[in-house]
Amino acid sequence: SKQYEFILTDRPDPAVGLITLNRPKALNALSSPLFLELNEALLAFDADDAIGAIVLTGSERAFAAGADIKEMKDKQFADAYKSRFLENWTTLTALRKPVIAAVSGYALGGGCELALSTDIILASPTATFGQPEINIGTIPGGGGSQRLAHAIGKSRTMELVLSGRNFSAQEAERWGVVSRVVGEGEGQVVKEAIDLARTIASKSQIAVQAAKEAVNAAFEQPLYEGLRTERRLFHMTFATKDQKEGMGAFAEKRKPTFTHE
Ligand code: CAA
Repeated sequence: SKQYEFILTDRPDPAVGLITLNRPKALNALSSPLFLELNEALLAFDADDAIGAIVLTGSERAFAAGADIKEMKDKQFADAYKSRFLENWTTLTALRKPVIAAVSGYALGGGCELALSTDIILASPTATFGQPEINIGTIPGGGGSQRLAHAIGKSRTMELVLSGRNFSAQEAERWGVVSRVVGEGEGQVVKEAIDLARTIASKSQIAVQAAKEAVNAAFEQPLYEGLRTERRLFHMTFATKDQKEGMGAFAEKRKPTFTHE
């Protein structure tokens, strides 16, 4: 597979793509060059028919400690505006394949926002989340104020974004920011994320992608439109071989073999 400077890519299972942020000396600070590589790797896995789900992780110490403060320190408004700074962070949200974040250690600022941009977050008990931008004279710029408000409501989001205080894996689980906190142990959260990715990849890819599109509609559309989107996608599945295979296999009391058609 391709060699990158700031990330590692791997295939722990033929149907699972794994991306590991790998800038240990900067606690995986999300510099522009790192993000270009991340987007390239995400798009390559998304375009690969054999891949059914993608896992995104960092190190034990840091998922990512934020956007790169040293890169931003002297940035001027005109440059930020004209270069559409951070606009390419939305690439991830337009992928068809599900992305699972496996978070250990710091997920701060842009690191928290990157995790929130994925479809499912699994956290290790050591994970620490936060939007500390207020402490350095700025505000979240990678979607944190919006995605946290959707996930945990206005009052909690205001408290976190205005005070800059971190929140624990346990709080994140209680509030529904993460789907679950896994057991202790080095590498455990990545292992569980890969297991979950493998399970998702064993389903009909068309159904998985339609299901993701339907759930996302709940965050992007008013309820009436979201319900209509869901119904249209549900109807669409009846045009697939996988739906015939899935329901046929149930009726014949056998396991389905999905061909993603
Ligand atoms: N950008 C650039 N470099 C960073 C960084 C960041 N966000 N976070 C950590 N680093 C670097 C440090 O500068 C340090 O580098 P040197 O060894 O060259 O000095 C190295 O990573 C190790 O960090 P520390 O020595 O600070 O490690 P620590 O264990 O003492 O502290 C920490 C860890 C609490 C995470 C601390 O590094 C920290 O507070 N980092 C910044 C967190 C932050 O403010 N993130 C938000 C950034 S703004 C943003 O993300 C905007 C947005 O919305 C997109």
